Amino acid sequence: MTLSDSTALGRTILERADELARFSDSPDHYTRTWLTPAHRAAAGRIAGWMREAGLEVRTDGAGSVIGRYEGAKPGAKAVVTGSHFDSVRNGGRYDGVLGILVPIACVAELSRRGERLAHAIEVVAFSDEEGARYQTSFLASRAWLGRFDTALLGRKDADGIRFDEAMREAGVDPAAIAAHPRDPATIAAYLEVHIEQGPVLLDAGLALGVVTAIAGGTRHKVRVLGEAGHAGTVPMAMRHDALAAAAEMVSAVEARAKATAGLVGTVGLLEVKDGTGNVIPGEVSFTVDLRSIDEGVKEGAVGDVLAAFDAIAARRGVKVEAVRTHGVRATRCSPRLQDLLAESVAAEGVPVKRLASGAGHDAMVVAEVAEVAMLFVRCGAGGVSHNPAETITAGDAGLAVAALGGFLRRFDVQGG
Ligand code: HGY
Ligand code: MN
Ligand code: MN
Repeated sequence: MTLSDSTALGRTILERADELARFSDSPDHYTRTWLTPAHRAAAGRIAGWMREAGLEVRTDGAGSVIGRYEGAKPGAKAVVTGSHFDSVRNGGRYDGVLGILVPIACVAELSRRGERLAHAIEVVAFSDEEGARYQTSFLASRAWLGRFDTALLGRKDADGIRFDEAMREAGVDPAAIAAHPRDPATIAAYLEVHIEQGPVLLDAGLALGVVTAIAGGTRHKVRVLGEAGHAGTVPMAMRHDALAAAAEMVSAVEARAKATAGLVGTVGLLEVKDGTGNVIPGEVSFTVDLRSIDEGVKEGAVGDVLAAFDAIAARRGVKVEAVRTHGVRATRCSPRLQDLLAESVAAEGVPVKRLASGAGHDAMVVAEVAEVAMLFVRCGAGGVSHNPAETITAGDAGLAVAALGGFLRRFDVQGG
């Protein structure tokens, strides 16, 4: 494939990402959460592109869209490649989506030439990875493997809509969400293409990178219970201000994360219950996200942060409750798949750079049952992501299609 051919493919990918970004829950920005009307419309558009590319398409119990391109021998094991098509609130249009559009373009090329590889190729558009609607990280890739916590069925979203109600409204049967688990014996390998969501490739002047490992993460929901009171009459020394205590706890998360290289800590959501300007906050809840490539560092930081919360609560005369709502272990990418991917990147004339991922990906879930690898694509605008300024170039998207094609061919020959 010549550079101009791949850039033309890349341009189509960017146009499709622009089209998908218009399927949003909000008229003001790009937000696409699980099973909303915009999400279902995007699923339909992705299914259409899959069919045009020659993939056989089905939808699974969690609303993920799965396309299969048979190998030379029907029923062969599949190289699975994909990512998610839900987003964070006011997010970037390439996060997840790129890892669906690149494989579709790759299969369309094979289809156009009537070429069949030894392995089947499956493109999976996971319906929910961010969990922005129901705080359900990796919901779709876990359901794809047959894993689902039925306690989620009663969880409500910000509008008070129950999880199972949202499924029925979208025409999806809650009882079947994880009813047809993927048999790991049918997966030859998993490869996820994703924007880097950081500045490393941009600073190195490289279009593509090979991921070595993915940082593990935990998320806690914290509730601080103080005493509501009149902002004008309660003397400062007598207050049990839940928000002032939470603010100190938020700073404790930041301080602990800053103290250890490679550890990151974030409080992304904070809510004052019945917050009013002239009332001392009585109840506050917030989220804590802690991550590291090193499992021990991450878990150690969790212990320290929770201990700090207890000390702050005791000193301020408030109560604190912390519930772990999400956890995923740090994941190493398959060394042999990394090498095949590195050969494919080099074959496109891109010097090979191996780097770790600070962001979490569905590959972490699939790694529990199959060998995984990830191909990163350079992020523009300083490497920003989870932000509408997120951007990539058509040239880089086209190179990703070529490198993925090269990987599929090499895996066919050397993958076993
Ligand atoms: O949070 C993450 O790392 C991913 O964007 N879900
Ligand atoms: Mn994301
Ligand atoms: Mn993502």
